[in-house]
Amino acid sequence: MSQDQQITTASGIPVADNQNSISAGPRGPLLLQDFHLIEKLQHFNRERIPERVVHAKGSGAYGTFTVTHDIGHLTKAKLFSDIGKQTATFARFSTVGGERGSADTERDPRGFALRFYTEEGNWDLVGNNTPMFFIKDPIKFPDFIHTQKRCPRSNLKSPTMMFDFWSKAPESLHQVTMLFSDRGTPDGYRHMDGFGSHTYSLINAAGERVYVKWHFKTRQGIKNLSAADAARIAGEDPDYAQRDLFGAIERGDFPQWEVRLQVATEQQLDDWEARTGWNPFDLTKVWPHRDFPLQPVGIFELNRNPDNYHAEVEQVAFSPANAVPGMGYSPDKMLQGRLFAYHDAQLYRVGTNHQHLPVNAPRCPMHNQQRDGTMAVHNGGAAQNYATVNAVGSAPRGMGHGEPELGLRGGAGRFDGRGMEDDYTQAGNLFRLLTPQEKLNLCANLAGPLSQVDDEILQRQLAHFDKADTAYGAGVRDALNIK
Ligand code: HEM
Repeated sequence: MSQDQQITTASGIPVADNQNSISAGPRGPLLLQDFHLIEKLQHFNRERIPERVVHAKGSGAYGTFTVTHDIGHLTKAKLFSDIGKQTATFARFSTVGGERGSADTERDPRGFALRFYTEEGNWDLVGNNTPMFFIKDPIKFPDFIHTQKRCPRSNLKSPTMMFDFWSKAPESLHQVTMLFSDRGTPDGYRHMDGFGSHTYSLINAAGERVYVKWHFKTRQGIKNLSAADAARIAGEDPDYAQRDLFGAIERGDFPQWEVRLQVATEQQLDDWEARTGWNPFDLTKVWPHRDFPLQPVGIFELNRNPDNYHAEVEQVAFSPANAVPGMGYSPDKMLQGRLFAYHDAQLYRVGTNHQHLPVNAPRCPMHNQQRDGTMAVHNGGAAQNYATVNAVGSAPRGMGHGEPELGLRGGAGRFDGRGMEDDYTQAGNLFRLLTPQEKLNLCANLAGPLSQVDDEILQRQLAHFDKADTAYGAGVRDALNIK
């Protein structure tokens, strides 16, 4: 809007004066009939929507996905149908624990949420910059996240809360190791890899299922900040990653990621589990590249900044449940929990009809009998608002889009794998991959918060480092100056 454009009320009525309230005499008081003043103040009071309960601070951009390799034998999803085919995308990167105004350089995983506006609906891959997660059961997620937020009494972040939780959940050690390594403070959002993290499935035209993990390899190269630089930048430029991403796209320096895939049949995963003891659907584990090599798929590029941060980046609503025909889920318990959690969060955070907003609406025909509710922008017009019951025998087999049934194993119940599952080897492998300097950084980064926890928590956590690798435990003790 230009400065000299006529201002109107939200109902389009020209506003006579946007600078001087109507008052009884030059001193006031003000008159209730100044509807423009009242509407202006009322709307201002309602500008904020609840921030995301996690991943509140973030940056987003539009882009393009281009297929470079044929994976038609793995999936019938139409976005992969031809080499060279392009699909419009939207991405949002974020930190996890901090509030909307928190610093971009905090030690935290980074969200890596991608939307593909395909011709058969929106596919959302809502991942992180890490291939694993801290826990393997969604029932622990609210407790885990509370330990990353502020202490209810002091309103301060608390190393005691964090390590009290982690030290009793050894499955977290793998990601704790990554978090406290140099990769815990990426240098902006362009210089990090992304991961779908969970095991998903792909289904081809013959109705055959394979399990996959998605990888996004940065073409900008990995760059991380030292702990000292991250702390300095948090003070000097808390919006460092936003500035970096927005600026790069604005000057035409479009960031790109190579999209790659690990692929395994159910039989291959069974064999791998029998050999390694690792559940392939356990999100605290990775599939080693030597067992399941990365296959190239395409290029993901970001090339357009949103025009309106609130409308597009703040109100975008990603959901891991958004999978298009030719794709499916897996028995990963964390993924199963997330299939519920996101849409539910957005019904509260953005509203009943959040999918009507331009950034969330599919860019393909959309029909259903959902009607009404607050802010129903596309309400189906005069079309019939109920579905009639299909003929007997017309229901699809399997899950419905040509994918086979999912075979089940064992009976229903609650299963605690602790003490039976190996939560140490992969964490140790990650430690052993680091250079000597990176190991020193990891141990120093851990020593900071661990020097603030009580001895019981400290000893419990040190025992985990020892079990992953005795050099890991020794390194942290050295950094803490304890024998
Ligand atoms: C059971 C475990 C989890 C639950 C219950 C959960 C729940 C949530 C919720 C409620 C939101 C806010 C959604 C919104 O308001 O739009 C969110 C955001 C997010 N979560 Fe999770 N989450 C879980 C695990 C994970 C994991 C394992 C990853 C990555 C692999 C992840 C990545 C993200 C990302 C990237 C966002 C931000 C999306 C955006 O940019 O809008 N979450 N999560």
